[in-house]
Amino acid sequence: MSLIREDVKFGLKKLFKIMGIDVRRGKRRRKLMLKSRVPVSKIKSLMCKRGLALNESGRPTWFYSAYYREDSDPLTNYTLDFICEEVPKESNILVTGCGTGIMLFYLIDQGFKNVEGFDFLDKCVLVANDIAKMGKYNTKIWRDDGFNPSLQKKYDLITAMHWVFSAWAGNYGNDCVSIQEAKSLETRERLLFDFLSKYSPHLNPGGMLIVELIDAVADYRLPSDSLSGIVTTVSDIYPVRHTPDQVSKCAEQCGLKVVSYNMCYSYGHQPRTSYVIKKL
Ligand SMILES: C[S@@+](CC[C@H](N)C(=O)[O-])C[C@H]1O[C@@H](n2cnc3c(N)ncnc32)[C@H](O)[C@@H]1O
Repeated sequence: MSLIREDVKFGLKKLFKIMGIDVRRGKRRRKLMLKSRVPVSKIKSLMCKRGLALNESGRPTWFYSAYYREDSDPLTNYTLDFICEEVPKESNILVTGCGTGIMLFYLIDQGFKNVEGFDFLDKCVLVANDIAKMGKYNTKIWRDDGFNPSLQKKYDLITAMHWVFSAWAGNYGNDCVSIQEAKSLETRERLLFDFLSKYSPHLNPGGMLIVELIDAVADYRLPSDSLSGIVTTVSDIYPVRHTPDQVSKCAEQCGLKVVSYNMCYSYGHQPRTSYVIKKL
């Protein structure tokens, strides 16, 4: 009997979820965040056309699946809400590692007037520009290397979400930092210092850099304790990790100050922390 009750409860929970009702909190879930003015079906066709839908093994790429992510990553939700609430709409915003532009277009849809971005992969840049054209978005999206960007101006906000830690691990065609090297505190600080020092000169006074990093708590975390259900046996995934103290130290060396940070361990392979870092 209790098994049947449990099964029915689970079925109802699933049904409520589909209907947009959060059973735990007894209230309607927040509106889906990452809706773009170009329909996802059109974006998917563009990805197929540009060869970005499938990877070498014939599986959907991260970029393709990202459109199912919706509002399931609390850190992305928090960061986007923070930007919408704290950043004036006329600000000059740069989205680094923008992929196909999900967040870039989201910010424009929220009323931000000066948003531009770049990505390392040509195919992403092509698809993002296709979407911009189709949705009549007023923006500029180009190819650049976020570890050595050739920036011409200063910004009020620069975001580096969901890519730096992965690039340090050698993904997306970046040079890989070996596991051994990545475990050294000196290497971690040097990599972060190098990264921050590239962007600090391109922030207006009081401007903000938001960067997402793997938290060093991952060094002693059990690999199977993720609430997201993604159980990885590879504890070395994304080995370049930082403590809040290290981030503060590197930021200060670059004329920046960490003003807030939030960690998320319920989504993704490792606990990630998003830092809001201000130009002094
Ligand atoms: C997981 S996706 C995240 C995309 C987007 N930031 C988001 O959160 O939806 C990582 C992105 O970082 C980009 N990337 C990786 N290395 C980069 C680099 N060195 N410079 C610029 N972009 C890079 C990849 O091409 C990819 O589009």
